[in-house]
Order: sequence, then C-alpha cells, then structure tokens
Amino acid sequence: MVLDLDKAFAEATARIADTQSFVRAVLSGRRRNMEQTLERVDIKAVALKSGLAIQVMENDGVRTTTKNFDPSSFTATELLNSGFANILVESTYGSYSIRITKKGEAQVHESKGAKVQDLSHDKKKVRLLESNDPFLIEIGISDSSGNIKPSRQDKFKQVEEFLRLLAPSLESAISAGHVKQPSDAHPLEIVDLGCGHAYLTFAAHQYLRKAGNPVHVVGIDIREESRARNEAIAKKLGIESSIEFRAEEIAATTKSDVDVAIALHACDTATDDALAWAVKNGAGLILVAPCCHHDLQSQMKEIPEPWALVTKQGLLKERLGDILTDSIRCQILRLLGYRVEAIEFVGGEHTPRNLMIRAVKTGAAPEALDIQRYTSLISQWGFTPKLATTLASELASILK
Ligand SMILES: C[S@@+](CC[C@H](N)C(=O)[O-])C[C@H]1O[C@@H](n2cnc3c(N)ncnc32)[C@H](O)[C@@H]1O
Repeated sequence: MVLDLDKAFAEATARIADTQSFVRAVLSGRRRNMEQTLERVDIKAVALKSGLAIQVMENDGVRTTTKNFDPSSFTATELLNSGFANILVESTYGSYSIRITKKGEAQVHESKGAKVQDLSHDKKKVRLLESNDPFLIEIGISDSSGNIKPSRQDKFKQVEEFLRLLAPSLESAISAGHVKQPSDAHPLEIVDLGCGHAYLTFAAHQYLRKAGNPVHVVGIDIREESRARNEAIAKKLGIESSIEFRAEEIAATTKSDVDVAIALHACDTATDDALAWAVKNGAGLILVAPCCHHDLQSQMKEIPEPWALVTKQGLLKERLGDILTDSIRCQILRLLGYRVEAIEFVGGEHTPRNLMIRAVKTGAAPEALDIQRYTSLISQWGFTPKLATTLASELASILK
C-alpha cells in the first residue's frame, strides 16, 4: 500500500514509542538524493539499572556506536527521516515496514505475527545451559571435556532457544492462572512428546529445577531403546525421582496428567497426536515445534482456484502445505479455548523446522468469524486434517 510519507513515519514513530510492545526497528539502505553516512541503525528497548531506555545502535560500515535515550524524551521521527530507504519496526503483535521508492513514496507493508520483546542490553545472549553441565555430556551433546560437539551444535541451539521461550511462557502462564502454581508436593507435570534422545526433556528438567521450579518431567517416545538409554542416563545423574521415560505411542500413552506439553520435531502427524493429547488432557501451556508435514501435503490433490497459481510450483506447493497445516493446527487450538501464536523459536540456520506453536489455555469461547474461517478453509480444500479427526468430539459442539 502506498501511504503519505509523513503518515507512514508517524505510525512507525508511534510504534517505536510504545515501549510496552516495541521489539526492534532497523533502518537501512539509502534514499535517493539524500546524504546518509550510516549503513544501518538498529533501535530497541533495553532494561538498564536506571530504568527502561531506547537504545540506538548506529553502524557506519566499520564500527557501531551505541547510545541510550530516555523513552520520554526520545522520538524516532528525525532518524526515520534522515535518509534511509528501508524501515522495519517490529512490535510484539506484528511488523510495519516502509520502503521509500525512487519517487519518494512510502510503500508500506503490515503483517501480523508475534515477536518476543528482549530487553537485554548485552548483545551477547546469556547462555541458559553451560556446555560442561554433566547432563549435556551424558546425553552426548558435549564431549568429555565439556565442549559442545560440532555435530550437536544445531541441536544444542534448538534446545537452548526452546528453553528461552519455555521459561518466560511458563512464568506468565502461572502468574495469569492458566497453569497451576507448583509446589514440592504438586510439581509441574511437563511432558515431552516424541522425546527421542531426550535432549529437550533433560534440558527442561535441569534448567527449570535449577531455576527453583518444582517439576516432574516425562519423556514419551515409541522407541524402547530410547526409553532404556534415557532412563539409564537419569539414574547416572541421580535425577530419576523427578524425570521418567515411557516407551509408548503418544496417542496411546498411559500418562494423563499434564500442565505443560512440549514437543520438538515430533515427526509428521506425531505433532498432531501431541497436540491432541495435550488438549484432551487439559494442558495449560503447549509449546510444539512441528517437523515434516505429510498429512495435508498428500491431500493437496484437487487444488481450489486460484491456489493453482501457487501450487504449480512444487516448492511453493510444499511451503503452502506446511503453512496450511500449521495454520489449521493453530485454529483448532483457538477454537478449543487456547490463545495461540506461531513464532520462530530459533534461527533458520540451525533448522529449517523453526516454527513453534505456543498455546495457552484461556478457555475463551471462539468468535463466530474464527469458526467460519476454519470451516471455509477446510471445505475449500476438502481437507480432513489429522488433528481435526483426533479432536472430532471436542470440536463437535463448536462446529455444529
Ligand atoms: C525427529 S525425532 C525428534 C526427537 C527429539 N524431540 C529431538 O528433538 O531431538 C522424532 C521422535 O518422535 C518419535 N515418534 C514418532 N512418532 C511417534 C509416535 N506416534 N509416538 C511416540 N513417539 C513417536 C520418534 O521415535 C523419534 O524419536
């Protein structure tokens, strides 16, 4: 959409000034006929000892200069108007981007999608897991000297970034009353579905317990050899009273009590089984990073128009299938009383499967429009999603 430049800048300035929701802004590229010596400017909100500040990092191509400003006296308008061609403002609820054309017009694009506000001012992210922690050595992420094995770097990063979202999501779900306040007598029941070698299972257990949370963690995987291996590690670490493993199918697990359901790359419809199991057993918080998506991919045969425009390209068809699968999953959770976000939990360089569905059970009734959108999408494509089949009885009263 083309907007008047002043209007577009006013919206970007207002989004940056709203420190409750402002995540970051990036200014780059040069506007035609304007002098701008900086290559790029990054703006973010940071929590300093003296209080909240707006941090402006100016890069001239060689070095970066950082300045902090009091939010009450800071306005971004002048910077926005200083000659950059591309402006991106991210807020917790979505992004606002402006591209200033050669004609000096503002091409504005708005998109929705949750971003996480990170108020830390140290550019180096704080490590949540120490590479020499004995559990990382035992599970095979670190070598015997306590260094992350090169072949396990990506898995380590996935697990650490998963934890980075799990910890604050859990805290806010507890404080909002969506997940119980745990005690030693009633620890949080955390269930990792499709746990495999249990990297995430052990990491969640160790990290949350170290942070003082009473937790009981259960890892479920269909493979008996995973259970035996993981249980032996738990014994060796002396933590078998608060972590256990079951060799079971997710859909048929004997585990039934859960506060938090997690899953990292449970294959294909095992992710649907994980979501369905979490819903049926009333999980207050669900964090699931899906893996491959074959269920709906294989149902994309009769393509409703005008979508053939996308699906005639094999790669785009596959990506659309992934997006439709995860959108439908999110919507089903929404219809069943969850507040849902699809977020990126780790950089794409560590795994292409880097989307996470985060859902908090609020019990809110779905809006008529949400129901209508869901039924229209399903009928337009003629889909029978695995998750809808598994949760048919839960959805029946909503879709009647
Ligand atoms: C790609 S691995 C991911 C393992 C682990 N979460 C990780 O990130 O390292 C998927 C795991 O899901 C398990 N799995 C697949 N389908 C399952 C099902 N229906 N029930 C239980 N486990 C399942 C597999 O055995 C495998 O260990």
